[in-house]
Amino acid sequence: MERTLIAVKNDGVQRGFIGDIVSRFERKGFRLVGLKMVKPTEEMAKQHYIDLKDLPFYGNLCKYTSSGPFVAMCWEGLNVVKTGREMLGETDPAKSKPGTIRGDLCVHIGRNLIHGSDGPETAKREVALWFKPEELVDWTSCAHTYLY
Ligand code: PPS
Repeated sequence: MERTLIAVKNDGVQRGFIGDIVSRFERKGFRLVGLKMVKPTEEMAKQHYIDLKDLPFYGNLCKYTSSGPFVAMCWEGLNVVKTGREMLGETDPAKSKPGTIRGDLCVHIGRNLIHGSDGPETAKREVALWFKPEELVDWTSCAHTYLY
């Protein structure tokens, strides 16, 4: 079963959206297998966004990410990487459709609430960055039978 990293970023936590975001993923049918709140070090933020290191906003993005809470979650399910990104909406909230998290809840690209891995390989790297193997729990709910 595929896994992805979904993270409620500093602004999403400050605005009180952890519950809403968890609820959307639960209601969709995905399974939460890892969850932690951290205040990332700047080094962790830099590792997380390493693919963006040559972009002009990289420094500010890493500083912002390490300046407050970050709720890292590992979600599991069929096509969870791609579907998770669709649930987030576009990077720029102004281009995100209503019904998506960013389309419903935010307005500015620099405060877009949530992170989701952009592909299966990135997901593996990001899950491994934020979670030790023993922090991920394998479990099956009874709903599983009716989902798959
Ligand atoms: S791109 O092409 O790399 O910019 O696009 P994307 O892969 O969607 O974005 C990667 C992360 O960079 C954040 N981002 C920005 N932050 C601040 N300012 C600007 N202008 C900006 N543009 C993109 C974007 O939110 C992505 O971070 P996460 O945490 O994954 O949302």
